[in-house]
Amino acid sequence: MEKKPLIAGNWKMHKTIGEAKNFLHELLPNISEASAQIFIAPPYTALAKCADLTSGTKVQIGAQNMSESQEGPFTGEISARMLKEAGARFVILGHSERREHYHESNQVIHRKLKRALHEQLLAILCVGETENQYEAGHSEKVVFSQLDECLKDLQADQLPSLVIAYEPIWAIGTGKTATPETAQKIHRLIRTYMAKSFGNELAEKLYILYGGSVKPENAALLLEKPDIDGALVGGASLKPEVFEQIINKVSP
Ligand code: PGA
Repeated sequence: MEKKPLIAGNWKMHKTIGEAKNFLHELLPNISEASAQIFIAPPYTALAKCADLTSGTKVQIGAQNMSESQEGPFTGEISARMLKEAGARFVILGHSERREHYHESNQVIHRKLKRALHEQLLAILCVGETENQYEAGHSEKVVFSQLDECLKDLQADQLPSLVIAYEPIWAIGTGKTATPETAQKIHRLIRTYMAKSFGNELAEKLYILYGGSVKPENAALLLEKPDIDGALVGGASLKPEVFEQIINKVSP
């Protein structure tokens, strides 16, 4: 069965509640015909409002991060249960900015992933190599070791709500996109890795998104590739007229 493309917007630390409201007000009427699945991850503060405003539409709301713990004395943290109550359906885990600025290791991401899956939140697990690793020809090795450590001990039946996002760090926010061919090559390797580890059925159904400077000009070319099932979009998800173009260009 054809997979519907999945376009996920990651707003990062952008938009107040008021700005989020204005964004959705402009976006929603223009995507009502789109066949793509649409995800948006606003900041925590705007999550409940966005979930309210998108209820009954094609857009699903999720979070950009969450705590690995269920609850407790963890100042500043947000739990899976809190996110779900606020209307989150998914959570982005292991984004390279969390790995770099907040020192999240694969072990931490592994624990967050287990927590998210246990709480029935769909998890978008981000993997990807740095520019130096890419230039040294180590992309595959780096991505496989991230997958090994983040998916350790998990079984196929725990992973139906896993999405993987391949985001080469050198392409995030830089305007340098991986060519569709380079991205496809790594996506294929990820799918093959997942088939070997968790079986063909899971690997075939698995959504593998590409992220890193996706914009209206390159989205369709990337998504044309057989193993690229969607996109995780940062900068280009911040303006409704730009995000809408991406969604409509990949919605046949
Ligand atoms: P970008 O970010 O689209 O701005 O490159 C992608 C991401 O960080 O997920």
